[in-house]
Amino acid sequence: MRRIAILGSTGSIGRSTLKVAESYPERFQIVSLAAGRNLDAASAQALRWKPRVVSVAAEPDAEILRSQLKSAGLGGIEIVHGSAGSVRVATHPEVDFVVSAIVGVAGLEATYEAVRAGKTVGLANKECLVVAGELITAEARKQGKPLLPIDSEHNAIHQCLRGGRMEEVRHIWLTASGGPFLKTPKSEFASITVQQALNHPTWKMGKRITIDSATLMNKGFEVIEACRLFQLSPRQVDVIVHPQSTIHSMVEFVDGSILAQFSVTDMRLPILYALTYPDRIESDLRFPVMDLRHLDFCPPDMGKFPCLRLAYEAAEAGGAETIALNAADEVAVATFLDGCIRFDEIPRIIERVLAATKTCQLESIKQVLQADAEARRVAGEHVEQLSGNPSPKAAGHFRNLAKGVI
Ligand SMILES: NC(=O)c1ccc[n+]([C@@H]2O[C@H](COP(=O)([O-])OP(=O)(O)OC[C@H]3O[C@@H](n4cnc5c(N)ncnc54)[C@H](OP(=O)(O)O)[C@@H]3O)[C@@H](O)[C@H]2O)c1
Repeated sequence: MRRIAILGSTGSIGRSTLKVAESYPERFQIVSLAAGRNLDAASAQALRWKPRVVSVAAEPDAEILRSQLKSAGLGGIEIVHGSAGSVRVATHPEVDFVVSAIVGVAGLEATYEAVRAGKTVGLANKECLVVAGELITAEARKQGKPLLPIDSEHNAIHQCLRGGRMEEVRHIWLTASGGPFLKTPKSEFASITVQQALNHPTWKMGKRITIDSATLMNKGFEVIEACRLFQLSPRQVDVIVHPQSTIHSMVEFVDGSILAQFSVTDMRLPILYALTYPDRIESDLRFPVMDLRHLDFCPPDMGKFPCLRLAYEAAEAGGAETIALNAADEVAVATFLDGCIRFDEIPRIIERVLAATKTCQLESIKQVLQADAEARRVAGEHVEQLSGNPSPKAAGHFRNLAKGVI
């Protein structure tokens, strides 16, 4: 029996994890759940799963949840809040497997503490590895526990690597759907609306990752994630556009053999793989191979999607640059979603923040969070410069982001 904590239980990955747990009640027990602001969903999950602990982002929500559960006869469930609450969920003594799926740097501390507590971690949250990959992977090695990728591309690479040894790998190919604007001329990028950008062609995901997929920053983060998870240099990680999202990624070995993984575009499959690793178990997630007609591939257009180029540059530099890359993107995407900046201004903000970032290596999570807060502050200034007179909503947003409230 796997005893599971879910960080980000109310999000897209969190809900898919609960669906997997629902399908295999004899294998998986939900011990603890961490949600953000969606109190209704957190409350419904607590009633359904009766975990030992539930965390929500804000203290007043924790109070409400506590009294709701008490009235339902579930007063024994421990209710906690904030980042300390997420850490409690991740490190509960009864937990042996943590699904890390809080979006953004908000998930960093709990994920790192889960690794430090010797839990096996299934990583959906890629931002953790982008900002603190060296610290997290070093700690996992020290604990002798695997970090199991849930991100579909890295999960595919993890599966393909079972076909050879690391020293036999020449390079890896991360496939990218290309997002909704693969065929949109760059001249139209300035007028792209939030609704258009949220319309991903192949995957249904949370808002941040959907916008990151539209700018190709998500693929850039994945390049950094792959370097850190599999100890590769950025030059060994190639991105290839594959609009059908059928092949989830490929590994090329030194003898010229290429192994690819393909399956349905359903995140339950990589979640199930991580939860049951090193075994494979029966599922109904079958790919209709007889319906397969063609697979298209083309190189990414770095001129049209500068976020991917910026991510490769940050990957080469490492340390503070990858922290700034993520922080600037988090601020830029949030303000784009709020309607305060244009779609084509997202990479401009990130480029300016990176230009203002001094190269240095960070040696603790505290230092990482300090560098993150500073990069957010600088990003906030650039948003204000670009948007002229920022709305009060945007100004509040930077303050909240800097405090890690959102
Ligand atoms: N969705 C996918 O298919 C997919 C694929 C690969 C990788 N990923 C990665 O997985 C992560 C989650 O993605 P998603 O699509 O599931 O995002 P999502 O649907 O937006 O869900 C995000 C989750 O994080 C929670 N959260 C946000 N801020 C929080 C905070 N301060 N404290 C505690 N919880 C907080 C949210 O809670 P509330 O909703 O309650 O506010 C929600 O449960 C991201 O890092 C993404 O890049 C996702």
